[in-house]
Amino acid sequence: MKATDKTYWENRYAEHQTGWDLGQCAPPLQAYIDQLENKELSILIPGCGRAYEASYLLANGFTQVTIIDIAENLVAQLQQQFEHRPIKILKADFFSLEGSFDLILEQTFFCAIRPEQRKTYVNKVAELLKPQGKLVGLLFDKQFEADGPPFGGSIAEYEELFKGKFDLRKLEKAYNSIKPRQNAEVFINFIKK
Ligand SMILES: C[S@@+](CC[C@H](N)C(=O)[O-])C[C@H]1O[C@@H](n2cnc3c(N)ncnc32)[C@H](O)[C@@H]1O
Repeated sequence: MKATDKTYWENRYAEHQTGWDLGQCAPPLQAYIDQLENKELSILIPGCGRAYEASYLLANGFTQVTIIDIAENLVAQLQQQFEHRPIKILKADFFSLEGSFDLILEQTFFCAIRPEQRKTYVNKVAELLKPQGKLVGLLFDKQFEADGPPFGGSIAEYEELFKGKFDLRKLEKAYNSIKPRQNAEVFINFIKK
């Protein structure tokens, strides 16, 4: 079993092994963001990577965006990239984060953590959300043959995992995924109970 710790992720960035990187905000998230009216929502993006969703939020006037990633080399680049922009950038382990958010955006962070951490992820997301706060984003709806990350999953598994802490308002195949992920991801909109 591969160690997927801080060093693992820093090496992936240092070696430009970032196959997950879309180079843009994922279209399903873009569509979701486009219909949000309240620009003051406090929004967290865990395991933000190159933070395309954050760039999109800032470009659209959102004022309370927080991004967090564990990889130091990446976060140093983000700090330069977003210098003087209204965004909070955290170099830290998501599982140690404290705070309170209206919305958490999920984009290939859940699939990056080991499956045995999934329950902890669910509890942590619920803990970080305000009452009625939302977890919105994309999860893979497929299994991967190679040892992850990424680690895959299914609708049935997600339903079982999240239903205790969240109302599962939406858990369905995304209709507007980028081509390589078509039919392979689900869009989720879960509201904290
Ligand atoms: C598969 S990448 C996805 C990056 C980005 N969300 C994207 O879609 O391009 C997973 C990201 O999670 C970060 N990460 C992994 N474990 C983490 C943890 N415990 N806390 C914070 N970030 C973490 C990695 O450094 C990496 O940037």
